[in-house]
Amino acid sequence: MVNVALRPLEAADLPVFDHAYGSPDASGEHQWFGFSPPGRSLAEMGALGPRGGRLTVTADGRVVGSVFWFRREWGPPDTSWCWEVALHILAEERRRGVGTRSMILLTRYLFDHTLAWRVQAIADVANTPSRRMLTRVGFTEEGVLRAAQWREGRRHDQVIYSLLRDERGP
Ligand SMILES: CC(C)(COP(=O)(O)OP(=O)(O)OC[C@H]1O[C@@H](n2cnc3c(N)ncnc32)[C@H](O)[C@@H]1OP(=O)(O)O)[C@@H](O)C(=O)NCCC(=O)NCCS
Repeated sequence: MVNVALRPLEAADLPVFDHAYGSPDASGEHQWFGFSPPGRSLAEMGALGPRGGRLTVTADGRVVGSVFWFRREWGPPDTSWCWEVALHILAEERRRGVGTRSMILLTRYLFDHTLAWRVQAIADVANTPSRRMLTRVGFTEEGVLRAAQWREGRRHDQVIYSLLRDERGP
């Protein structure tokens, strides 16, 4: 079984991510939003701040992707905030359980180290891998956000999921 772990980003990871997010094939069918500037710094990648962060996913010590989270608010910011999470596993590393394991580790990390009550995630209606992964981690499907995302010349419906603090697994 693959040993999946999360760790802070290192400068050497950045070219891997630039490559991974730099084309529709590498980004994934439902994740291509156009080119991003190459050579981004750790700060620009949003590594570990009070409003969100990003961690590198390793599998048996190799860099295989990243997980990230950012703050969302559903009412007064002090009492109605939550984390929204997302992740990207390198195309050649998918379908081995790494995505599921990374998301379990990330939600555990956020509930252990922040006071969040709710962690939410958004998946394109057609993104079967992402939707199956979220369900497998224990997220509940809450509904469809119609025409919420603009990508590749048209609007796409998104499904919103959540995991609450008292629903997390062992
Ligand atoms: C979504 C993603 C993170 C899943 O990573 P992964 O390592 O392949 O996930 P896992 O191997 O843990 O598989 C998770 C589930 O998806 C299913 N799955 C994975 N790839 C699939 C595919 N191409 N078609 C159908 N199901 C697929 C698996 O069978 C598993 O479901 P199951 O447990 O019910 O059998 C990965 O596909 C990815 O990085 N995609 C591009 C970015 C993205 O879409 N991110 C999510 C939105 S934020």
